[in-house]
Amino acid sequence: MISLKNKDIISILDVTKEEILYILDISKRMEEEGSSEILNGKVLANLFFEPSTRTRISFETAMKRLGGQVVGFDELGTTSTVKGESLRDSVKIIEGYCDIIVLRHFLEGASRLTADSVTIPVINAGDGASQHPTQTFVDLYTIKKVKGELENLSIGFLGDLKYGRTAHSLAYAMSNFGAEMYFISPPSLRIPKDYLEELESRNVTYHEVESLNEVSSKLDILYCTRIQKERFSDPVEYEKVRGIYKLSKPVMDELDVKEDLKILHPLPRVDEMDESLDDTSYAVYFQQAHSGIPVRETLLATVLGAIQ
Ligand code: CP
Repeated sequence: MISLKNKDIISILDVTKEEILYILDISKRMEEEGSSEILNGKVLANLFFEPSTRTRISFETAMKRLGGQVVGFDELGTTSTVKGESLRDSVKIIEGYCDIIVLRHFLEGASRLTADSVTIPVINAGDGASQHPTQTFVDLYTIKKVKGELENLSIGFLGDLKYGRTAHSLAYAMSNFGAEMYFISPPSLRIPKDYLEELESRNVTYHEVESLNEVSSKLDILYCTRIQKERFSDPVEYEKVRGIYKLSKPVMDELDVKEDLKILHPLPRVDEMDESLDDTSYAVYFQQAHSGIPVRETLLATVLGAIQ
């Protein structure tokens, strides 16, 4: 029997294929049947040390729709971190105020450290350039919905694959489903070797290219990502790759792609996807963002043991 009760959700590699499918099934039920107050009396601490629109607000909405309450912060500057308090001390205090922690942090490994420091469950809402597992559940839910299945798809990851934590987590997750992967990036933003080695150990067939044109006709899914200016230590390096990929309706009209190609993006977008793309049959990124509610309702309810 599958149970996620009290499970920390830190890396997508900690979640089995069966658990992924279980979460997606319950998310579908949540979306179809609507929310009920199964988390009445529970408190979520939303600890956001980095900016967020979708993840923070959808976790907050999900918790409130299930009858729970939300505390927390969305800016490091308003916390005692600025007085020098360590993350470990902060979360050891906060665990006494709540039932579950959702953490976004600019440091890789911050969620793991938090999970190792407290006794309540911890959900990683993005740690530096490492992983973003709850976005991955949203992505998988969307892919399953728009393609009807997850098995044996060709997926292209476009853009910032070095710092793109959503791409890292999704590539790992799709390795469970026989995906063929195309990593499309400039040389300076290639997916790090560690990720490729893990994919190789999982027998994933992958290709690394610089140009979308080289592989566009093969793709069922194109996962577009923003080049993350904030992660570059050298602004000159950012300027070299800024705006290197620009999807738009005119670009798609010229590109050789499958008719039923779907384009996902974790958002926010900057200049890599033009608004002219929004009304094409390819675009599913707004639908994807809205799926954050049933998926995060499911994660909160299963980890807190309200659904077993
Ligand atoms: N997709 C995503 O993580 O968006 P936010 O940074 O707005 O939460």
